[in-house]
Amino acid sequence: MEPEPRLRALAERAAEAVSMPVTVLPGRAEELPGGDGSADVVVASLVLCTIADVPASLSEVARVLKSTGELRFYEHVRSSRSGFFRLQRLLDPLWRRLGCGCHLTRETERAITDAGFTIEHPASPSVIGIARPPGCSAR
Ligand SMILES: C[S@@+](CC[C@H](N)C(=O)[O-])C[C@H]1O[C@@H](n2cnc3c(N)ncnc32)[C@H](O)[C@@H]1O
Repeated sequence: MEPEPRLRALAERAAEAVSMPVTVLPGRAEELPGGDGSADVVVASLVLCTIADVPASLSEVARVLKSTGELRFYEHVRSSRSGFFRLQRLLDPLWRRLGCGCHLTRETERAITDAGFTIEHPASPSVIGIARPPGCSAR
């Protein structure tokens, strides 16, 4: 689902390039189109940072998922490091304007558990960083 027409057109183009059938729908996560208990999996990738009403959206995810279903998510979140969090908080107002409503400081894991989900750890081991080659002195 993608509410923004320009991004939806990009998603539709990407959907045409994959080998499985993909339907891109207009609409918002706060009102998912599926029936109760109809979905095996809901995927949220870099979207819970932006949607206006996270509790309503997660409640919709819980509604459409089968009892054996899964929410799979990949989200940037509020840092647990105090210095980094202060930087996130400082940049957040500007980032929201530039990033069409994207928040830097959301506590998405808490939002997911508050919505009644149980998070299994590790959901997906991952690492993110910047690496310089041996002998590079740039900083
Ligand atoms: C940070 S962008 C990420 C886009 C894409 N997931 C990616 O990883 O490239 C956030 C996305 O959430 C979408 N969005 C904003 N509000 C939404 C809502 N209420 N329901 C569903 N998607 C929403 C935006 O239109 C945008 O495509």
